[in-house]
Amino acid sequence: MIAITGATGQLGRLVLAQLLKTVPADQLVAVVRDSSKAANFAERGVSVRVAAYGDRAALAKAFEGVERVLLISSNELGQRVAQHVSAIEAAKDAGVKQLAYTSVLRADTSTLSVAKEHLETEQALIASGLPYVLLRNGWYTENYLRSLPGVLANGALVGCAGSGRIASAACQDYAEAAAVVLTAPLESGRIYELAGDDAFSLADLAAEISRQTGKQIPYQDLSEPAYVELLLKVGMPQVYAELIADSDRGAAAGDLFDDSRTLSTLIDRPTTPIAETIKMALAR
Ligand SMILES: NC(=O)c1ccc[n+]([C@@H]2O[C@H](COP(=O)([O-])OP(=O)(O)OC[C@H]3O[C@@H](n4cnc5c(N)ncnc54)[C@H](OP(=O)(O)O)[C@@H]3O)[C@@H](O)[C@H]2O)c1
Repeated sequence: MIAITGATGQLGRLVLAQLLKTVPADQLVAVVRDSSKAANFAERGVSVRVAAYGDRAALAKAFEGVERVLLISSNELGQRVAQHVSAIEAAKDAGVKQLAYTSVLRADTSTLSVAKEHLETEQALIASGLPYVLLRNGWYTENYLRSLPGVLANGALVGCAGSGRIASAACQDYAEAAAVVLTAPLESGRIYELAGDDAFSLADLAAEISRQTGKQIPYQDLSEPAYVELLLKVGMPQVYAELIADSDRGAAAGDLFDDSRTLSTLIDRPTTPIAETIKMALAR
């Protein structure tokens, strides 16, 4: 059996949907904190088990009979290492044979502030002795499109990434990669640096949005403090404003760039071009 934590999140849903194409539903476990959000998976025959990150006993119960776990990183910044460690320990308690963890691109050298918790989790996983795979996911293209209505309303894409090149990929691409790893022969100690085939700057992204909408959307580059200030002004909580500005700073430093094509090799197709993800976001 294969268990997916964070199964009701954006990535988790896509991974489960992908696995359901080739794996019998009764071999899949959705580990969730709120079972009402997983009704669609239960209807399809997936076993839905409730366990919050941090609750080692509940997680160990959720992993009973499970051979492989995909530990999708938590979104609760600052609490993630303890939460992930509880899942790793629970997987050991349950006799899991492989744990794959969704980390961040080049977690060991990245200057991104989010990389710290990922690296500490990686180190805990390696120290645990559990057979592991690290799925070091690059940026999701979707990250840039959540604010699309605001971008269109304001007539500009604002950031502080300078001319940094971003090799993002669609969430679906990362989900397919996870599904490939979870259904391949068991392996341990493997690190996949996953990113999109094509890289773009935020000016390129603005140009593509302009092309598809027929509106003039320039990219406006701010300093990092000025960008944080702007995000706070539009009501974003401090922690997220700092995180978003930091990711742009990291993009400028090259943290979001990769040209290894490991992701497209793994999923055996090109990654989703940004134009396609923008088209889907505009159609919503
Ligand atoms: N590479 C990137 O660009 C990028 C971007 C964003 C996030 N990330 C990372 O990748 C992860 C997955 O991305 P995503 O887009 O799927 O994020 P997401 O939609 O926010 O999903 C996070 C999942 O974690 C679950 N979760 C959070 N706290 C939990 C807790 N205490 N106990 C149990 N479950 C908990 C959530 O449960 P509910 O469904 O109940 O809310 C959700 O299912 C994120 O959590 C974050 O670490 C990466």
